[in-house]
Amino acid sequence: MSVQLWTHCRVATLAADAPTPYGLIEDAALVVEGDTLAWVGPRVELPAAWRARCTTEQDAGGALITPGLIDCHTHLVYGGNRAHEFELRLQGASYEEIARAGGGIASTVKATRAASAAELEASAARRVRALMAEGVTTVEIKSGYGLTLERERKCLQVARGLGQAHAVDVRTTFLGVHAVPPEYAGNTDAYVEVVLQMLPVLHAEGLVDAVDGFCERIAFSPAQIERVFAAARGLGLPVKLHAEQLSNSGGAQLAARYQALSCDHLEWLSEDGARSMAAAGTVAVLLPGAFYFLRETRLPPIALLRQHAVPMAVSTDSNPGSSPCTSLLLMLNMACTLFRLTPEEALAG
Ligand code: NIG
Ligand code: FE
Repeated sequence: MSVQLWTHCRVATLAADAPTPYGLIEDAALVVEGDTLAWVGPRVELPAAWRARCTTEQDAGGALITPGLIDCHTHLVYGGNRAHEFELRLQGASYEEIARAGGGIASTVKATRAASAAELEASAARRVRALMAEGVTTVEIKSGYGLTLERERKCLQVARGLGQAHAVDVRTTFLGVHAVPPEYAGNTDAYVEVVLQMLPVLHAEGLVDAVDGFCERIAFSPAQIERVFAAARGLGLPVKLHAEQLSNSGGAQLAARYQALSCDHLEWLSEDGARSMAAAGTVAVLLPGAFYFLRETRLPPIALLRQHAVPMAVSTDSNPGSSPCTSLLLMLNMACTLFRLTPEEALAG
């Protein structure tokens, strides 16, 4: 097996107990055995036994090496685009108004339903490759633009296929409760029943790593989300939630009661919500792209998250409406400039 020694680099280990910011090691060495990182540390401390086992030595050209980046919230399998809505928002329409008028997520549902699996695969592959070019090694991909069993399955299969076709780890999330599809307009509870039927089928097919929902007055109520969460946990699946994005609906407390992996967006998070998340170990996923593209003015309560030691993550939320973006590095930048995270918090996130 090949054993590579990499030198002429700095390494940001981000180790929690490191004595330096970023866990930074100046003049570092890494030993890579097969596809495993076998040793990392200051070059002068490389054990002689490891040095002797190295079959090749690589010059990293003075690069800064970080852990692989994780984009933990994307909706990157979709058809069409929503450029027209961007123009409407510039003219003063809000995301919520556009959604209530039948645009928003519903318009992407229409375009996604009309697209073939091959078309979805081709456009999503471009987005995945853009993320990978910036160092992303793990990407979460949600469904939620199909909203029938067959169409959600198609999108989740495309997502799984992207992980097989690219050197990236893909985690799939079933987001059946993203929007009420047109055929159930005015009958949200009946649609929730349909989602409850889809979930065990898609899970049995190995297509679901986690279950998400959109808890908002233009989407699903806490009571409706709770039904889906109870079913997910009953199947042993972890949950996460689009929570407190446009209003405070207590989604964070609900998600915490179901030991959610994360609550995402959180511009309207309350102190009680932050406390619940901290107690449950639920991560706050910050999405500066959606904040920026929707021209929001209310910031997520970063000070509150720090005060209650809620772990923070940063993600692209890559989607055609609220965050048409495939640059996680730009999101790290915006997490600092818009949300005032420190660069170290942003990279760790
Ligand atoms: O994370 N808020 C709900 N879901 C997405 C938006 C999806 C869309 O607008 O197509 C979000 O912002
Ligand atoms: Fe999202």
